[in-house]
Amino acid sequence: MSFLKFLQSKKKKNEPCVDFAHLPQHVAIIMDGNGRWAKKRGMPRRAGHAAGAENFRTIATYCKEIGLEYLTVYAFSTENWKRPQEEVSAIMGLLKKYLLEAVSSMERDKVKMKFFGDLSPLDPELRGLCERTEEISKRYDGVQVNICLNYGGRDEILRGAKNFADACLNKETSPGFLDEETFGEYLFSKGVPDPDLIIRPSGEVRLSNFLLWQSAYAEFYFTDVLWPDFSKEELLRALADYQSRSRRFGGAE
Ligand code: IPE
Ligand code: IPE
Ligand code: MG
Repeated sequence: MSFLKFLQSKKKKNEPCVDFAHLPQHVAIIMDGNGRWAKKRGMPRRAGHAAGAENFRTIATYCKEIGLEYLTVYAFSTENWKRPQEEVSAIMGLLKKYLLEAVSSMERDKVKMKFFGDLSPLDPELRGLCERTEEISKRYDGVQVNICLNYGGRDEILRGAKNFADACLNKETSPGFLDEETFGEYLFSKGVPDPDLIIRPSGEVRLSNFLLWQSAYAEFYFTDVLWPDFSKEELLRALADYQSRSRRFGGAE
């Protein structure tokens, strides 16, 4: 065997083995660990968020390339307002920057974008950008990227319950019609299939109020890698791991 062939066979052995014909339909990521990534380097937390935003771009583009249908990312939770004002502003500034760039490259990228979460407390410029991005990109039918912004799973369920109750009061429906599918129509994720795989980098092993309703039968993948370091290879590792699972949904094998 030539040295080159030997190297190639070695590389293949170490590479996660993913069946690209059977990817999960919907992958969701809790983009966590930006602060610790910055701290390790003696940098301010906002530098970690900037690196995290850059990595989001890389991973979202890669998901499109491999043909994933839905990618949902947790960008800012309903609890993240507790952080220092300076950090919240830095995150919001990065979101604005990202969306301005996304709008200008939309014709080329053709990514459909949606926002899950209550956008009303956001500053009007950011809110306007979110609405514009959704509006312009709704005609694309390739990958759909859902950005959870001021999102909380409990908040989403409560809103759904209130909106359903209002629809009942307005005589548009009645409690007898409420089932899981119907309730799904009252959530931010309306029309989007449940996530098949939820990835959380950074070593934390919890949901932190992410997709509580939708995660009922999701597979989980946890890794100690911090989000800014979560590379394409890490994603392939998560996908390969997912493909090794047996999903039974309560049934028997
Ligand atoms: C995730 O990274 C980004 C947001 C929550 C907005 P963190 O900022 O939570 O990073 P760690 O967990 O402190 O390392
Ligand atoms: C979850 O991460 C929210 C996002 C990644 C946007 P957090 O860092 O806020 O979660 P906790 O506080 O560790 O549970
Ligand atoms: Mg965190």
